[in-house]
Amino acid sequence: MTTLVTGIAELTTLDPTHPDAEDAMGTIRGAAIVVGDDEQVLWVGRTINSDNGPAADRRVFLDGQAVVPAFVDSHTHLVFAGDRSAEFAARMSGTAYDGGGIASTVAATRAASDDDLRHLLRTRLDEMRAQGTGVVEIKSGYGLDVDNETRLLRLAGEVSDEVTFLGAHVIPPEFRHRRSEYVDLVTGPMLDGARGYATWVDVFCEPHSPHAFDADESRAILEAGRDAGLGIRVHGNQLGPGPGVRLAVELGAASVDHCTHLTAADIETLAGSTTVATLLPGVEFSTRSNYPDARALIDAGVTVALASDCNPGTCYSSSMPFVIALAVREMRLTPDEALRAATAGGAQSLRRSDIGRIVAGSRGGITVLDAPSHLHLSYRAGVPIARRLVLTP
Ligand code: NIG
Ligand code: FE
Repeated sequence: MTTLVTGIAELTTLDPTHPDAEDAMGTIRGAAIVVGDDEQVLWVGRTINSDNGPAADRRVFLDGQAVVPAFVDSHTHLVFAGDRSAEFAARMSGTAYDGGGIASTVAATRAASDDDLRHLLRTRLDEMRAQGTGVVEIKSGYGLDVDNETRLLRLAGEVSDEVTFLGAHVIPPEFRHRRSEYVDLVTGPMLDGARGYATWVDVFCEPHSPHAFDADESRAILEAGRDAGLGIRVHGNQLGPGPGVRLAVELGAASVDHCTHLTAADIETLAGSTTVATLLPGVEFSTRSNYPDARALIDAGVTVALASDCNPGTCYSSSMPFVIALAVREMRLTPDEALRAATAGGAQSLRRSDIGRIVAGSRGGITVLDAPSHLHLSYRAGVPIARRLVLTP
């Protein structure tokens, strides 16, 4: 089944090499696309009117809306149970975030059945799709024992191909005085359980939290994951300056995420690397923290991605349009830079060339905006203008 989607006022392809592209964003005005099975894009181009364009089994007419690649949410913690709204309320009154609340989500998640977690996960994914998100990376990290981490990875794998083993989220309370034993568990039996489900390994590398992992512990975990064939992602430099960025670049990580507290040397290190800096401004919003210096990163030539970090502690928002609006308003990205970071940037952080753009052969979804241009994503902050184009046979 092929569908000609036409009547597109402004198509952002992120493919500036397309012969009809008008600018570096690969913009085509008066565009159409043909989409095949599995949301694969078959053809992209300008149309003189809504009737020309290649033949297709059926036609969808958009009547002047803008179309962008579906957002790539490259950093989420979607598999969890429990509620931490009271922790959020306390934070708004001045309590600082230190990762200690993760233990309560671990307890609630361990107590939940597979079906409970499936339901919560699917509800959150539906929420994301309804706001224009396509591919979603999902981390474990609320099981923190062998059986529960394996279970969370299995459940994540039912709904996504981008699954990340985060057994090193925090030291669980039962290991508080036995940190090295916990690192041995993560790099041994827990990693063995993760094989076959996860494609990535991640660690909360954060010397400013007593619950998270220091540089040596993080290195041991990331190297074990790499030796087991997993790609590397790092939670780094979130609560204060630290070793996360350096370690990520040294180990060839695909992405280092948060980057809230960077030194000039960190930015230089990132600029000379293939590691993407993934910024999560919903976290600074929900923890009342200062935003990362996104301008310095972009101006230094670092590839930047934007993601939600959707999780119960630091940002319980699943909305990529909200993230884009924050990036524009609070981090001074241009709307073009923010859209690129939320699509192609996320794809690069997952080392995928088949998503995050609209080109012949790409996959990962198409997002329609109830607006004439993508500028409205931040201009109309909080208004639900973005939705995934659903083409059911
Ligand atoms: O990315 N910083 C570590 N992990 C999450 C928060 C998890 C939680 O508080 O439940 C984050 O911010
Ligand atoms: Fe996170």
